[in-house]
Amino acid sequence: MDRRRFAGWSLKTGIIAAIASAVPGVLTLKGRAKVAAGARVAPGDHLVFALGENAGQPVTEGSFSQNEAVLAYPANKSDDHNNLAIVCKLDPAELAAPTDIAGTDHGIVAYSAICTHLGCTVRFSEEPMDQAPFPHIHCPCHGGMFDPQHGARVLGGPPPRPLPQLPIKLDEKGEVVVTGPFSGPIGVQA
Ligand code: FES
Repeated sequence: MDRRRFAGWSLKTGIIAAIASAVPGVLTLKGRAKVAAGARVAPGDHLVFALGENAGQPVTEGSFSQNEAVLAYPANKSDDHNNLAIVCKLDPAELAAPTDIAGTDHGIVAYSAICTHLGCTVRFSEEPMDQAPFPHIHCPCHGGMFDPQHGARVLGGPPPRPLPQLPIKLDEKGEVVVTGPFSGPIGVQA
């Protein structure tokens, strides 16, 4: 399976068990995620696939099609679950405030993949749902929904705040590179 097909497959199927087994520190379905301490994401970090046969390989502009997403870590920093990001490729014309547009590139926008409710790992959905426009990010634990076209604002469910954005750019090879810190605190906050 090539990288592009895997991107669609991994998120369309949404097999949370597979994610949980492959990503250290990922959610428990009923409780707060166990968060490991480690090196935090920093400007200049390249994002790499978090799981699957491409795990550890750079995420590039060609890794996915529009309206697809992948889970990614900064290279060599997967020991800190707080670094996990969901990288979405959207229609650039549909990205709007409060998205930090300067922190996107060719429709690629990255957010924390840690739900702000109780810390589950969020997923990308291509399917329309009653409460949410297409496309959207959702959380499998308690139905939280986020709008990736508008700064991952909360569309529904119990999350108290948006998913923090991780600013990125594409380098000369088309690889996704971090340009700054997350826009806010990650996951559960007291
Ligand atoms: S952890 Fe409850 S909605 Fe995400």
